[in-house]
Amino acid sequence: PNDAGDDGVPQRLTVLDNGFENTACMESEITHIDGYRGTIEYRGIPIEDLFRDNDFEDVLHLLLWSKLPTPSEKKAVRSDISAAQNPPKSVINAISAFPRDSETYPMIIAGLSAFVAADKVATAVRHQHKPMFHNDLEKADKAILRTIGYYSTTIALVHCHKRNIPFTKPTSGGTLVGNLLLMMGMVDAATRSGPDPEIEACLSKLWILYADHEMTNSTAGMLHASSTLTDPTSAIMAGIICGFGPLHGGAIDLAYSSLKMIKDPSYVPGFIEAVKAKKFRLYGYGHRIYKTRDPRLGLIEQLIEQHRDKVGSDPLLKVALAIDKIASQDEYFVKRKLKANADLLGCFLYSALGFEQDMITAIICLSRVAGGLAHWRETLVKPIKLWRPLQIYSGPKSAAPRPKESLS
Ligand code: ACO
Repeated sequence: PNDAGDDGVPQRLTVLDNGFENTACMESEITHIDGYRGTIEYRGIPIEDLFRDNDFEDVLHLLLWSKLPTPSEKKAVRSDISAAQNPPKSVINAISAFPRDSETYPMIIAGLSAFVAADKVATAVRHQHKPMFHNDLEKADKAILRTIGYYSTTIALVHCHKRNIPFTKPTSGGTLVGNLLLMMGMVDAATRSGPDPEIEACLSKLWILYADHEMTNSTAGMLHASSTLTDPTSAIMAGIICGFGPLHGGAIDLAYSSLKMIKDPSYVPGFIEAVKAKKFRLYGYGHRIYKTRDPRLGLIEQLIEQHRDKVGSDPLLKVALAIDKIASQDEYFVKRKLKANADLLGCFLYSALGFEQDMITAIICLSRVAGGLAHWRETLVKPIKLWRPLQIYSGPKSAAPRPKESLS
């Protein structure tokens, strides 16, 4: 607050920053993105190094606990996550109540809500006078791993319900990626028992690229919710709702739909003209932070190359490449520094691995939950501060303000 104004009411400096383009909401030691140089580092390690040498479980550990895990630490995390993956009947019922052709995300929110209702710690949060997780990181870590377990199971249940296929129970101590595939019924074609190892390995690499992206809309959405001291599963619901929005994680879905609509590279120039005339938005293009090529794209291209036999047969890949070729040289995009983002090509890998379009955003959100929860954990050792932005009121005011003494 600054000095009191003429009427004695304290004046404060208020900044209107549309879309928070210039406003930081917290300090963090987790992820650093340089949007002009096109780099991402998790805890000071370049994403390219992690992508080359590590798997998603390593990165999960690094984001949450600032170090790469030992084999026994990895085992302990697997065991805690898988212990939370068996769904109570109420969760199955909540998801099965939806018509099978429902949108994915409301089903996911319903499943997670049922998980919260069944979780004694999550519900107790609202009845404790003392904040439950602040400075009790042991309790927070258990809740984090339960939340990851809940969300992975919810995705699998939604996938199975929508397709009317049986849900498979997770393996105790199985990897997060492996158990997700298993629960979804994406098993090894040869043995019909465990998860498909090729899909598991590729997904584990792909998830490294999506695991955190500093203060994205979904992470900020989650932290906004958690600043009220709600439980982490409820907070990730807020983040997931943001994640499904078309300008954010939902862009991967719309990017793929646009490619389906365009169908053939010969229609790309006309489509680009329509984008420039603002009739369409080019999904998979443009980014708030990157003013150069999204560094994740090169790594996605490496994976596409490795899985060329599957991805190459998708005729829409040619459409996506034609879009990038034209847009990257067109003045409209160059002037606005709009470059391809990870969502332009990410959909090809998911689709080649056997994921249908309706589940892709949900699965990407699972890898991002790792980062979101790491940011939540970071808030737990800082002073509690409710997030409450200001507005600048520009509507009508009554002619006679009340005397100051009666203000409350
Ligand atoms: N297609 C066409 N025009 C675009 C696009 C696009 N994808 N992105 C931005 N623009 C234009 C805007 O129309 C605006 O033009 P103007 O100056 O003539 O008014 C200008 O570029 C600046 O746009 P803003 O919306 O102010 O830029 P901002 O940084 O806020 O937007 C965003 C970032 C939302 C990601 C935007 O680029 C976009 O909508 N992209 C498509 C959606 C997408 O791919 N999202 C995924 C991002 S990555 C991720 O979340 C995983």
